[in-house]
Amino acid sequence: MSYITIEGGNKLEGDIPLQGSKNATLPILAASVLCNGTVILKNCPDITDVREMLHALSYAGVRSSLHDGILELDTSNAVPCYFGPELAGKTRGGVLLLGAFTGRFGEAGMAYPGGCVIGARPIDLHCKVLRDLHTTLTEEEEGVFVKGKPGGGHVFLSYPSVGATENAVLAAVCAGGRTVISGAAMEPEVSELCRFLNRAGAKISGIGTRHIVIDGVRRLHETEYTITGDRIVAGTYLAAAAMSGGEVILRKTRRVCMKGIFESFRAVGARIYRDCDTLVLKAPDTLHSIPELVTAPFPAFPTDMQSQMTALLSVAKGDSRIYETVFESRFGVVTELQKMGADVRNRGRFALIHGVEKLHGASVAASDLRSGAALVLAAAVAEGQSKVYGYDFIARGYEDICGIFRLLGARIEITEEK
Ligand code: UD1
Repeated sequence: MSYITIEGGNKLEGDIPLQGSKNATLPILAASVLCNGTVILKNCPDITDVREMLHALSYAGVRSSLHDGILELDTSNAVPCYFGPELAGKTRGGVLLLGAFTGRFGEAGMAYPGGCVIGARPIDLHCKVLRDLHTTLTEEEEGVFVKGKPGGGHVFLSYPSVGATENAVLAAVCAGGRTVISGAAMEPEVSELCRFLNRAGAKISGIGTRHIVIDGVRRLHETEYTITGDRIVAGTYLAAAAMSGGEVILRKTRRVCMKGIFESFRAVGARIYRDCDTLVLKAPDTLHSIPELVTAPFPAFPTDMQSQMTALLSVAKGDSRIYETVFESRFGVVTELQKMGADVRNRGRFALIHGVEKLHGASVAASDLRSGAALVLAAAVAEGQSKVYGYDFIARGYEDICGIFRLLGARIEITEEK
């Protein structure tokens, strides 16, 4: 198993670029299928989740090449196919192929999706939105099968699921008639998918609100698009500065929406500056605790920053409590932080944190992508050496995390084992 070795304790500071957003790229890859031609994506992150999705798409006849952040896709020869467990099981984003293939071909099938193990992650809402758009969907042992060209309709989401909203958008853009999605997720990545689709000829309004309105068009056209920076990766590197008493200058952050994240950094006492393309975080002399931090859908504090903030608050002065409302079992980081001397406990959906002055090095293991990032943060500020196992989880979403931490002054290296 691949792992990262870190000699902790250095102040982390420096000037680093921000990678493109994973959660924007994955739905846009699915959307490219609707474009029926060449799509060029700039600032595309080279991460395992993107590679897995491209691999799945290759089985459906989509050709792609990704070099130096530029992804070129040719979807003109795409054909409908069944994405088996070895394809769909790898990344959660794969479920979005259902909406895209149904939208283009009126036909899609896939095994139940995979991704990080952070709760039950059912797909009932994905199935519901496709049914609301008048397709015939059956759930079988081998997976989900959809038949029929979608028609416009009213989609009501009882919970603002990011993926289900994206699937509804993907299925509706080339459907006959008007679709109204009520209770839509407002995450910036949903908006980015809609902006990409509009650039390719879709007619979507209400972007960024709970009510998305889509007037179906006959077809989309080839297009070029630049992916926005990743707000969660940004939050992770800003946390590195905050936890180590340093200062990080983050470049390529134009249009990156940090709502919900900045508030928590300000609450711990960090100072943040921003101009059009740069974000700067300067650590406070002493990190303050946060009495109650609640994860919830956008614009609240994002669940994808929860593990990193748990690590940060474990070295803040005082008591903090985190309430995880989005995923029911996302505190895998807690037992690992305990091995590093953190005074953190998990009670159901809560993490109870009493800040300690110092963490110490230990051998720890990531259980999902963000817990892996959180453990790298904790190890970077701990006294002594740590080994963080489960590098494969981290590589799903972070492009060259060790290279970036080295730029910030960390002593870190990776041992890759097949
Ligand atoms: C997306 C993000 C993920 C992020 C999450 C919440 C991608 C590829 N991943 O995941 O990084 O943590 O949003 O911001 O964009 N749910 C159901 N039934 C469904 C769908 C979801 O009950 O059919 C539940 C989930 O189990 C979870 C909650 O809804 O408890 C949120 O899930 P959702 O917003 O759909 O997240 P994802 O799209 O999977």
